[in-house]
Amino acid sequence: MTQPKNTANGKLTARRGGPLQGSLTAPGDKSISHRALMLAALAVGETAITGLLEGDDVRHTAAALRHLGVTVVRDNPGAWRINGVGVGGLLPPDTVIELGNSGTAARLLCGLLAGHGFSAVLTGDASLRSRPMGRVIAPLTAMGATFQAEGGDRMPLTITGNDNLRPTAYTLPVASAQVKSAILLAGLHAPGETSVVEPTPTRDHTERMLGHFGAEVRVEDAGLGNDSGAGRRITITGQPELAPAAIAVPADPSSAAFPAVAALLVEGSEITLPGICTNPTRTGLYTTLAEMGAALTWTDEREQGGEPVADLVVRASSLTGVEVPSERAPSMIDEYPVLAMAAACAEGVTVFQGVEELRHKESDRLAAVAAGLAACGVAVEEGPDSLTIHGSGGRPNGGAAIEAALDHRIAMSFLVLGLASEKPISIDDGSSIETSFPDFAGAMGTLGADIGPDA
Ligand code: S3P
Repeated sequence: MTQPKNTANGKLTARRGGPLQGSLTAPGDKSISHRALMLAALAVGETAITGLLEGDDVRHTAAALRHLGVTVVRDNPGAWRINGVGVGGLLPPDTVIELGNSGTAARLLCGLLAGHGFSAVLTGDASLRSRPMGRVIAPLTAMGATFQAEGGDRMPLTITGNDNLRPTAYTLPVASAQVKSAILLAGLHAPGETSVVEPTPTRDHTERMLGHFGAEVRVEDAGLGNDSGAGRRITITGQPELAPAAIAVPADPSSAAFPAVAALLVEGSEITLPGICTNPTRTGLYTTLAEMGAALTWTDEREQGGEPVADLVVRASSLTGVEVPSERAPSMIDEYPVLAMAAACAEGVTVFQGVEELRHKESDRLAAVAAGLAACGVAVEEGPDSLTIHGSGGRPNGGAAIEAALDHRIAMSFLVLGLASEKPISIDDGSSIETSFPDFAGAMGTLGADIGPDA
C-alpha cells in the first residue's frame, strides 16, 4: 500500500491507536538547509551537501539561487551540489522570485541581495505576504540597499542592492535569527566589519556555518550586563573569499518535536529519533519537556559539520504543567504549538510567557493554538503575549476540525493531539506540511500512527 501524502486532498485526520514504536529519522534541519544552499552559492567552487531538507521552503531557496545565476544540482535524495559564484557574484534574476511560505528564504535572501547592484522582486504565498519585512528593511536600508514594499513592510517587495554597501553595527530590536542572519549576509558584501548585537541568543547556524566556509567571524559577550550574561555581539569581516565546504545537514529538532511529543502522549510508546541537531540555541522544547517529566534519553552525542547532534529515545510519560520562562522563547520559538499539545494532556497548568513573536509566524500561532485547543475541549486563556493551558491530565476530548491557516506547525501539532485525544482531530489542509516535513503522515505511519486522508 502506498503511504498517504501530506497533500492528499488537503484534509487529514489523526486517530487514537496503539503505541508508537520504531525509529524515525526526522528530515534535515530547515534553518541549516537554507543556509547551506546560500553560503555554498557564495563560495568559490563546488560544495556538496547531504541530508538537505527537500521540503517546499528549501526548494524555493534552491530555485531562487538558480534564478540568480547559481548552478544547483540534485544528485540523489538529500544529496545536492552547488557551484558557488563567489561573494558579490550573483546575477540579476530573469523573473519574479517566488518564495512560497518561507520567511527564512525571504529575509536571508534580502541580506544576500543587499550587496548586489541590481533589482529583484520577491513574493510569496498569502501567509508570507502577511508577515513583517520591516525588521530586515530597516537595517539593510541603513547599509545602503533600497526597498519598495507593499504598505512599506510587506511582500511583494522590490529590493535594489548596492555594490558599495556600508558596514553597520546593529542591535536587534526583536530576538530574530532571520534578521541577524540577513545583516551578517549583507555584511559579507561590505568592506570592513559588520556587527550585530543580540540581547537574547538566537539560533547561531549562520555564524557557525560562515566559519565553516572560512569567513572571519567573532562572537563575544556584548557586555549588556543582563542577568544571564546572554548578550552577544557577532562580527563578520566583509568581502572574504569563501571556500567550498562539505555539509551534512543534521535532523531538524523542530520537526523531530512532532513524533517526540506524539510518543510522550500515546500510552506505551517508545521511539528513537536519530541524529537530531542538539545546538543549545534550538533545544528549549526538550528542556521544557524534561521539566514536565518527559522520559527523554540522549545518546551518542557527536559533532557533524560544526553542529552537535545526538540520538533521542522517547518513552510515553505522564506530564505535569510548567511555567515556560520568556528567556527560553528564542530556543524553542517554533515548538510552542506542539508543546501546547503536550500541555493539553498534562496534569495542571502550563503558562507560556513573552511569546508575542508567535503572532508573526506562518500564522498568528497564539490565536491558532488557543482557538484549536478550545475547539478540542481544552481550557485556554490567550493574553497579548502569553498563553495559559489547563491540562486535562489525560485525554482531551478532541473531535474538532482545525483550520491549519497555511501553517505547517499548526497542522502537525493538532494531528499529534489527534493521536492522543478521545475523538479524532482533522485539519482542513495538510499541504503546508510539505514546507518542512515531506510525507509527515507516511513517516508517522511507520511508527504506527493513524494519520491519513479522511475516509
Ligand atoms: C529561523 C528563525 C526563526 C524561526 C524560523 C527559522 C531561521 O525565526 O521561527 O522558523 O532559520 O533563522 P525568527 O528568527 O524570525 O524568530
